[in-house]
Parts: sequence; structure tokens; C-alpha cells
Amino acid sequence: MSQIKDITKEYTNGEVTVVWRPRMCMHSTKCFKGLPQVFDVQKRPWVNAEGASTSEIIAQINKCPSGALSYYLNAEGKPEEGVHLGEIVQMEASKNGPFLMKGNLRIINSDGETIEKQGMTALCRCGASGNKPFCDGSHKKSGFEG
Ligand code: SF4
Ligand code: FES
Repeated sequence: MSQIKDITKEYTNGEVTVVWRPRMCMHSTKCFKGLPQVFDVQKRPWVNAEGASTSEIIAQINKCPSGALSYYLNAEGKPEEGVHLGEIVQMEASKNGPFLMKGNLRIINSDGETIEKQGMTALCRCGASGNKPFCDGSHKKSGFEG
């Protein structure tokens, strides 16, 4: 059963809006190691969208492997919700880690809950995640190989 609620939070500097979906996070630590002036887990809120330039924020978000972090430019407006079936979805088995899905997904979990997701999504492949079907980084502790 999924323990983390599917909430979405947004933080903006007036130009770009950082979108945060904690349930998708696989705790790769890339965000707060790469741009600590924006992403700081010791602070509340943990995202300071004024901490770096818009281009630096976008470059860092593009490195988020799970898609827990995404963004949109305020001038372009919030992207449309929902997925369009029939598009190609790329599924990559990462070495000793999750399936990295790239594309629009409609996931129905074992509770029958529907979760729609755009961009990157990391799905557990090791069986150890406490947040299935998403990877929560537990594969590192469980020593999963494959
Ligand atoms: S998965 Fe994304 S949001 Fe989670 S720690 Fe890594 S970079 Fe940050
Ligand atoms: S693959 Fe990451 S927790 Fe299972």
C-alpha cells in the first residue's frame, strides 16, 4: 500500500515554477547536492525558488531521475493535466536500480488508485520500495543487483 500522499507543491520566482511531487522521489540526492541554495531539506519550505537563476533551476530539475521535480515557465502557463494514450513511452532498466520511464503514464496501483504522470518516473524493480510502485531509493540499502 502507498504510504505517501500524492500531493503537489509549487514554488516560483515569478519566472519559473518548480513543481514538487514527493511521492515520486527516489532520494537520489541530486537536487540538494547539485543546487543547495535552492533545494535544502533542512529548511521549510525546502525549495527556495529565489536562490538561483531560472536557467540554473531548470538545469538542475532536468537532472532529477524520478520526475519528482519538474517545472513550467510562468509565461507559458501550467501544462495541461492528463495523459494522451498512444504516445511512445521509453522504459529503461537502470543498473542495480529502478525502471526509468520517460513519457506520459497512467499508473493504476494495487489499491486501484489512478496516478497520472508526465516526464520522468522511477518505478521500483527491486521489490524493496516502501512506496510501490515508485522507487524510493531502497534498492541501495537492499543491495539489489540486476
Ligand atoms: S529524485 Fe529528484 S527530487 Fe528526489 S532527491 Fe533525487 S533529484 Fe531530488
Ligand atoms: S528499485 Fe529503487 S526501491 Fe526498488
